Amino acid sequence: MDPCKVDLGVDLGKALAKRSNSVAVSPPRRLTHTDTLGNFSDVSNSLRAKLVDDVHEDAVSPVELDHGQTGHVYALEAGGQKIAVFKPVDGEKFHRKSLDAGKGAVREEAVYLVDRLTGSQAGVPVTSRASIQVDGHTLEGSVQAFVMDVQGFIEDYGIPRKLEEAVAFIPQADAESIALLDMRVFNMDRHPGNLLLLKKAKPHGLGPIDHGCCLPPWWCLGEAIFEAWISWPQLQTPPSSDAFSLARAAHAKLALTCRMVAEAGLDPSAVVTLRLCTIFVYIGIVEMAIPIGKLAALMLRDDCADPQELSWLEERVLAAAKEHGGKLSVQANDRGDPEVRIEDFGDALEVEPFIQDLELRFRQDLKAFRQDTPESHGEDAPIQSW
Ligand SMILES: Nc1ncnc2c1ncn2[C@@H]1O[C@H](COP(=O)(O)OP(=O)(O)OP(=O)(O)O)[C@@H](O)[C@H]1O
Ligand SMILES: [Mg+2]
Repeated sequence: MDPCKVDLGVDLGKALAKRSNSVAVSPPRRLTHTDTLGNFSDVSNSLRAKLVDDVHEDAVSPVELDHGQTGHVYALEAGGQKIAVFKPVDGEKFHRKSLDAGKGAVREEAVYLVDRLTGSQAGVPVTSRASIQVDGHTLEGSVQAFVMDVQGFIEDYGIPRKLEEAVAFIPQADAESIALLDMRVFNMDRHPGNLLLLKKAKPHGLGPIDHGCCLPPWWCLGEAIFEAWISWPQLQTPPSSDAFSLARAAHAKLALTCRMVAEAGLDPSAVVTLRLCTIFVYIGIVEMAIPIGKLAALMLRDDCADPQELSWLEERVLAAAKEHGGKLSVQANDRGDPEVRIEDFGDALEVEPFIQDLELRFRQDLKAFRQDTPESHGEDAPIQSW
């Protein structure tokens, strides 16, 4: 068995058959993530192990929640309380050309780790992977702690247009943390149904869920979706000191984060995406102080253009990759929109020179972007030296 997986020991088929009764589960099996990565790994492992232990308390009964892109989504209830969500990878129905079905659980766990290693600022619930027996067959999927105190989905609420009111509704640091997470993991599914509004009283909190469509391979950067937050007033002003700290921490922890997500099973081509997006965020925020909404827009294609054009980010990635062995071409797809194609799954790319080249391009071109759009940042926001 893959050492990164957890066997919950739940026979979901039998459990569903006996839905009205509680379901006996076998004794918990411990997480067996290898522990070679220091204290952060310890903390993260213990939280994920605790989630799995909790799922094994007394009795667990699965209740079907939804039938979305993932297929069936189940709430695991114990002691009369929903404690976790189980999403089988079997039957994933993602419509992202860049993502292999069946890898959603790895990406869910990887996004949790990305957030966890910078102090869980975005609040991604503890997420691990699980194998479950269903009618004698093994179902694999992700298991995620159930988010409590949910008021609804962001799509059901209007975020005030005035900055002061928006900040009273959702604190600036909370809005920024979600945005910076989505940018770092190149989220292709942050529509307002995948962001929960928490706490009855204002200011509310945010609960990010559904991270199976993040971290595509580095040559597939045409489908980012930041619809939930891209126009929020909190993100149109210069980044706060909290955003600076978070972008700096993400950069400082990048090597460790890459090792941990690779250990969790994320493909090397997706680890490159995490690297380049984290560096982009670091330069854009820490060095250039560009408002997060403006910086994020450089990662998006213009949906209104027909045909679309490559995004600012895609153009730089393509140019740098071609300089360093990437066998890429741009071809029009059925709708006439540009699609980056690769010949060899990226094997020929010289990764380190590519990243270094890209870093220089980001620095140079973001500086030009900042100068060309002076209204996009505070006049006196410093450009930091590096
Ligand atoms: N950690 C969680 N805590 C509480 N509720 C959750 C959690 N994860 C998922 N849900 C609930 O389950 C629903 C489906 O989950 P999710 O969005 O992750 O799955 P999906 O099948 O990929 O979704 P979609 O409907 O967007 O295609 C969510 O809309 C939400 O109501
Ligand atoms: Mg969803």
